[in-house]
Amino acid sequence: MFSKLRKTFDFFRPGHNTTAKVYDDMLGEFGLALDEKTKIPSVNMGFWKEIPQIKPDSIHHANREMFRIVGEAARFSEEDSHVVDAGCGFATNIKYCIENHRIQKITGLNVSPFQIEWGNRLLNKSGLSHKGEVINGSATDMPFASESIDRVVSIEAAFHFETRETFFEEVKRVLKPGGILSMADLVVCTPKNALQKLFVKSLSKTLHVPKENVYNFEEYVALAYKSGLEILHIETIGKEVVNPFHKWFWRRPVSEFFNYNLIWSVLGIGFMFARLDYIRIVARKK
Ligand SMILES: C[S@@+](CC[C@H](N)C(=O)[O-])C[C@H]1O[C@@H](n2cnc3c(N)ncnc32)[C@H](O)[C@@H]1O
Repeated sequence: MFSKLRKTFDFFRPGHNTTAKVYDDMLGEFGLALDEKTKIPSVNMGFWKEIPQIKPDSIHHANREMFRIVGEAARFSEEDSHVVDAGCGFATNIKYCIENHRIQKITGLNVSPFQIEWGNRLLNKSGLSHKGEVINGSATDMPFASESIDRVVSIEAAFHFETRETFFEEVKRVLKPGGILSMADLVVCTPKNALQKLFVKSLSKTLHVPKENVYNFEEYVALAYKSGLEILHIETIGKEVVNPFHKWFWRRPVSEFFNYNLIWSVLGIGFMFARLDYIRIVARKK
């Protein structure tokens, strides 16, 4: 309890609010929710289209659905020698990709030391470390040579990147010609009034969303086209993600809310009330 309070206090000190701290200190090993059976945490809002009923543990199923739609769109093939997962969380998507697709090697990039360690432990325990690993590296400054990567996947992480524009530039640099980017991302939309402005402000602080990344779906689409990548598919999946996620969130047992850092979760209310959308993009390097 004391350590949770100390971490929360530290998080709100000026200059101490970083993405790594959001994940290391605020969400810890619980993530958004812990799968009681596998003890694996979920850290994305999930894709709920094929999920008939929203129950407290449905989030884990919805997470895997998100991995499925992004992975299928990446069109992995046996020849793909190197895939990158930018902002890979607890390496659960890496595990999913190796188990469900023909992949030779997949490297996860993350900036959270806790998740990097946890993710590599998961891959080791699952006997997958010969194909997958997590390294400390930023999606906006990837530790890979130009034109060396076959596929980049990224799920609900680009909203943190400083900035998304730099991420697109990096993707364009590291992908081989013909290489594919398949991503899904949370869109924190431009607030329309003073109250929404307040929610976005608290969300930016508690989830570390740079202000340069706050804009509407239409502007996100324009940014993707401007990147110079060939856009193969772009759509909003907000209806299949945001609304059902909110429904799930309010239906969980109250006791679960105590797994978060309390002050953080109170200010995280912006997550519930800010204008949010969700985007899915598939693009190819020309
Ligand atoms: C909402 S979580 C999603 C995790 C994972 N993709 C999933 O769906 O399970 C966002 C992730 O992005 C990572 N992240 C944030 N900024 C990053 C950056 N600049 N480079 C690499 N990873 C980053 C966070 O540490 C966290 O693991």
